[in-house]
Amino acid sequence: MKVTVVGAGNVGATCADVLAYKEICNEVVLVDIKEGYAEGKALDIAQKAPIDLYDTLMVGSTGDYSKTANSDVVVITSGLPRKPGMSRDDLIGTNANIVKSVTENVVKYSPNAIIIIVSNPLDVMTYQAHITSKFPRTRVIGMAGILDTARYRCFLAAELGVSVKEIQAVLLGGHGDTMVPLPRYTTVAGIPVTELIDADKLNAIVERTKTGGGELVKLMGTSAWYAPGSAAAQMVEAIVKDQKRVFPVCMQLDGEYGIKNCYLGVPVILGKNGVEKVIELQLNDEEMALLKTSEGHVREVMNVLEKM
Ligand code: NAI
Ligand code: 2OP
Repeated sequence: MKVTVVGAGNVGATCADVLAYKEICNEVVLVDIKEGYAEGKALDIAQKAPIDLYDTLMVGSTGDYSKTANSDVVVITSGLPRKPGMSRDDLIGTNANIVKSVTENVVKYSPNAIIIIVSNPLDVMTYQAHITSKFPRTRVIGMAGILDTARYRCFLAAELGVSVKEIQAVLLGGHGDTMVPLPRYTTVAGIPVTELIDADKLNAIVERTKTGGGELVKLMGTSAWYAPGSAAAQMVEAIVKDQKRVFPVCMQLDGEYGIKNCYLGVPVILGKNGVEKVIELQLNDEEMALLKTSEGHVREVMNVLEKM
């Protein structure tokens, strides 16, 4: 299996590293626009192989997409990250052009690939890649839900004093402050989380999750990369190994949850064909209202893209 990662910056290089050391695929092609950058990162990851013992072939390329030909999966991380004071939506002007041109190159050389978008604003960049590629919606998906649920699970595990491995959770909506973590669908080794934690503490964790990306931007001056890179690699793994994992991913909705032609995070079964099934949860009125608010926000940013 061959996987291309476009953007050899913080998230892209981390994703490539995880793909390599876990031997998720046979070959990883890293592409960047900065001269020599992707080649350097690929060489560095290749030189780590004798230490960590993996055989994944690493290839770097400055803008030469012929090296990406016939990739099974392409992860697009190219674009500006947030700086303190910026929202993800502030990135749209620059990143929409980057995602469009990158997607055109990807489609030219890998017409059968599954595309995973990471660039922000995530939901609208997934829209951009979908309309540019003209691929079926099941093959153009965005990574955010795994990251956002990981943050939620991390905070919950710390509060409850249990292993992160025991926390199962799902989350809906856009990758922004209107995302919708779902306490009703959160369990600790099968026990509803609401039986183990006070409502106030749980609400505080939900709110911290929603602004979890911004918390890191404030601390580091740029956005996160370890968890985002691993989250994207986990999606790749589910696809290339046909694992049928259930993850929240961003995709075009076509009537699910009563929403059409909007790009939002929903739980899906992920396998060799990309999205194999969208799972529709039975939301209560409060959860549905939160999802509608998130939909409204994503549609506003989609409108900005349409007017560009
Ligand atoms: P970075 O600045 O470290 O890396 C971005 C790379 O993209 C740079 O190396 C740059 O040279 C490259 N690039 C720019 N234009 C390109 C083009 N046309 N072709 C190929 N490469 C190009 O940024 P970082 O931290 O890796 O973040 C990347 C993107 O991912 C940002 O938009 C960020 O907001 C987003 N992000 C999304 C997350 C999510 O959950 N979906 C989580 C974390 C970051
Ligand atoms: C994050 O949530 C910035 O989207 C990025 O860390």
